[in-house]
Amino acid sequence: MFKNEFWFPESVNSMASGIDDLFMFILWVSVISMGLILGVMAWFAYKYRAGNYTNTEPFTTHHFKLELAWTVIPTIILMIIWYWGTVDYVAMSVPKKDSMEIRVTGQKWFWTFDYPDHGVRLRATPETDEQRRLDNQPVGLVVPIDTPVKLVGSSVDVLHSVYIPAFRLKKDVVPERYTVTAFIATEEGEYDLFCTEYCGTKHSGMITKATVVSKEAFEKLMEAEKQKQSGPVDGATVFASSGCAGCHTVAPGGASGVGPALHGLYGRQENLNDGSSVLADENYIRESIMKPLAKVVQGYSPVMPSYSGQLSEDELNAVVLYIRGLGRDDGGAL
Ligand code: CUA
Repeated sequence: MFKNEFWFPESVNSMASGIDDLFMFILWVSVISMGLILGVMAWFAYKYRAGNYTNTEPFTTHHFKLELAWTVIPTIILMIIWYWGTVDYVAMSVPKKDSMEIRVTGQKWFWTFDYPDHGVRLRATPETDEQRRLDNQPVGLVVPIDTPVKLVGSSVDVLHSVYIPAFRLKKDVVPERYTVTAFIATEEGEYDLFCTEYCGTKHSGMITKATVVSKEAFEKLMEAEKQKQSGPVDGATVFASSGCAGCHTVAPGGASGVGPALHGLYGRQENLNDGSSVLADENYIRESIMKPLAKVVQGYSPVMPSYSGQLSEDELNAVVLYIRGLGRDDGGAL
């Protein structure tokens, strides 16, 4: 069989190692099926051609074993493809424990990468990329080698999509919601990163690199950037200045006020007024800030005002991270 490099760019994401094989499997199943079907068609066209029809046997109306075979065999093949694809999809969707978190934000028309553990932000515009090249710095999304990464995406305007062919990774980033994907980069180098959902006139300009560097080089870059930058928006500060504390306590064992206490909220099942329950994940926390009446916790009145339009995307992300970390030693890292 052909080596995969014949068809694909190199593959440097160990969590996506099965994807190429699955693709080849589907390709060859398709090629063989097509060969069989076209072969039988050609044979029938020849055998039963007009003017040569001397067959006086009665027509066959059906053939039970044949019908059984062409039902059961494709079903088995489909189940194999489904199982195989699901295993790979889950591997790329569920981050490993103690993954390093990187938050990617799509915006017309550039990318922003935030490293909450390091308090560093990297922007990838054509100008910043060029500047970093001049400074001999890695470009675009910079990740350390052999490190599990949890990539959390969001968008401040329209639908964009992070596409890194060498990582076999494509994940939409969507307004008003977080999407999660996971990878482990296995080889140092510079790989293409595109936006692959049409997002306006400069969609084609949303192009940068994913650069895989050694762990030492990564820490050095983070340290250098930290010195240069003013630091990320502080979620606790936004929480205080936005008046959240007027209704929500954050201390351990804090009493419920007008709104629910927030300590230990993240990862809990919350019972809602309508009798249903919801997992308090990042999307729930975000929604509760922007659309507080969508899911009201049992026993509370629907009185919280929406913060839609009042918090910038940065402030919103910072508050979500802050609430997520309340009562968790690990800051809520999944
Ligand atoms: Cu962003 Cu296309």
